[in-house]
Amino acid sequence: MRGTRIEIRPGALRHNASRATALAQGAQVFAMVKANGYGHGLVLAADAMAGEVDGFGVAVLEEARVLREHGVSAPILVAEGFFDRDELEQARALSLEVVVHSAWQVALLLEHPGPLRIWLKLNTGMNRLGLRPDMALEAAQQLIAAGMTPVGVMTHFACADDAEDGRTESQLRQAVQVADALGLPLSTANSAALIRYPHARAQRVRPGIMLYGSSPFDWQSAAQLALRGSHRFTARLIAINQIQPGDTVGYGATWTAERPGRIGVVAAGYGDGYPRHAPSGTPVAVNGQPTVLVGRVSMDMLTIDLTGIQADIGDEVELWGDAVDVDKVARACGTISYELFCQITGRPECVIV
Ligand SMILES: Cc1ncc(COP(=O)(O)O)c(C=O)c1O
Repeated sequence: MRGTRIEIRPGALRHNASRATALAQGAQVFAMVKANGYGHGLVLAADAMAGEVDGFGVAVLEEARVLREHGVSAPILVAEGFFDRDELEQARALSLEVVVHSAWQVALLLEHPGPLRIWLKLNTGMNRLGLRPDMALEAAQQLIAAGMTPVGVMTHFACADDAEDGRTESQLRQAVQVADALGLPLSTANSAALIRYPHARAQRVRPGIMLYGSSPFDWQSAAQLALRGSHRFTARLIAINQIQPGDTVGYGATWTAERPGRIGVVAAGYGDGYPRHAPSGTPVAVNGQPTVLVGRVSMDMLTIDLTGIQADIGDEVELWGDAVDVDKVARACGTISYELFCQITGRPECVIV
């Protein structure tokens, strides 16, 4: 057995969901399980958190359908709403809650009126999806006149996880104004806002990354936030090479030994979803001992520094999980844990523990 594994921990997902619910202090909690449950498995994530949360958030209708087919009867919010008439009717048939973010969706609804739980999305400064507040008020009046009163108003924060955040308060103010004017519930908070801005919780929160045991912040770890790791990536040592000063390692000879030492070859690469752009110095652990990646990551293997480390062929190397914080790996790679979770391929064995 090659032994390259992803360990998924439903108990940790459940724990993290209960943390989100405690922080929400009575606001509804919709657990974001889009993108295959942030790489953890869509149905697995929903099953693990069922009972701890009020509903689930997905990006697209297809994800909602999979949940319904697996018997998930809890409310499901579709964050990108419907893409065409056919999806609009499917959303109705599956009793989904849809986000309406664009004028063309409002027009389609007015052409094909009928019962639907609509969350009107505001663009309060993210400038991605959403109607500007004045357009949203107008759209709401049109929908109300056609018998499709929206059930809520939502927006999404651009910078709630930035140390220098100067935008969230203004985004929140605009959203509160529209929700108050329409007398509708409001939903704004992602994980970062749920933790950092208690007054942004409103009537519904939409945490994602914190549920998966990762911190939204650079300055506070998941452990400091009392979150538990739900995703562990490990592989085995398949070769150990002695090296001398001046020897180089891997494609492009990007790393050169300065002293005699040992290099461990690990059976995981970008073909398994480990990021190819992880630089030398990215943390890993062998038998609980911290060490670092050296040289370029290849498709099926990567190389680590074993100098001064107790390790043998067959030993387990943790790429992230317990001894190695996934957020530190992500930072070393210039990315975020969301991307690391999502880009795991089908090749590693997936073990539910
Ligand atoms: C509309 C919406 N709400 C909530 C979330 C959850 O955000 P996070 O994973 O940062 O908590 C996302 C994720 O990107 C989102 O797109």
